[in-house]
Amino acid sequence: MKRLAVIGYPIGHSRSPAMQTAALEEEGLAGQWEYGAIEVEPDGFAELVGSLPGQGYVGVNVTIPHKHAALALADEASEAATAIGAANTLSFADGRISAENTDAPGVLEALAGVGFDPAGKTALVLGAGGSSRAVVWGLAGAGAEVTVWNRTPERAAELAAELGAEAANTPSPPAIEGFSLLVNTTSVGLERTGDSSSQPPATFKDLGLDVDQVSGEQAIVDLVYGSDDTELIAAGRRAGAKVVDGREILVRQGAISFQIWTGRTPSAATMRAAV
Ligand code: ATR
Repeated sequence: MKRLAVIGYPIGHSRSPAMQTAALEEEGLAGQWEYGAIEVEPDGFAELVGSLPGQGYVGVNVTIPHKHAALALADEASEAATAIGAANTLSFADGRISAENTDAPGVLEALAGVGFDPAGKTALVLGAGGSSRAVVWGLAGAGAEVTVWNRTPERAAELAAELGAEAANTPSPPAIEGFSLLVNTTSVGLERTGDSSSQPPATFKDLGLDVDQVSGEQAIVDLVYGSDDTELIAAGRRAGAKVVDGREILVRQGAISFQIWTGRTPSAATMRAAV
């Protein structure tokens, strides 16, 4: 059996096992390949990964909080993973660990899927964490003029300088009318199930961003997804914008990882249905 898995902490909520298993079944690989989930705390990550090839693992997806550590322990890394500073896909072969980042090409493929070409377009990216790095690197490489806004402006400035973007050093995001593409990489809109926090979840209004300013001329991407459309995605649909939701991003990055390990192109529709 060739084994694959997603590694994270926590990992219980992950839809990757269902999505990747559906793709293995559709490709007729389910008898020879399996995809599971492994939960491990940060201090056990490197040791766990080192033990996987000996247990029949061919590769893994890596998610929060291990994406930096995954890149650090790899023997070789793709240009994307190196520039982004994080890996979400590891492959094991010949005693070596290779690191890739499929988040950036996943976003670009999802945009192509709704007919949006970032070349020469203006893009506003909200957030300056790990996901933002992948999005900004991908969009800048595709020829977009990228502006990054973040609640903590220093992080936006640092990320923008490193990845060839502009930073908006303002307390609230700049007016969204000026941009062809709006991408949310912050956790605003995330459902907080089982969260013991007494704070109510943040909304875009709290940031000073009016989602009703979204127009039908724009493309909207939200990396957050939940049981329902997020506030931003719902506004995008109302306006008739080109809309890419967090599920679609999950599917696209997962499909590219699947291709890296198996050499086959899975059906995005099958993976989406399983999510
Ligand atoms: P990820 O790997 O998903 O990008 P992260 O690195 O923890 O996660 O980044 C989270 C992003 O969401 C950051 O840009 C964070 O802003 P700060 O840098 O100011 O912390 C943003 N974020 C989280 N909670 C937020 C909130 N309530 N309002 C605005 N931005 C928020």
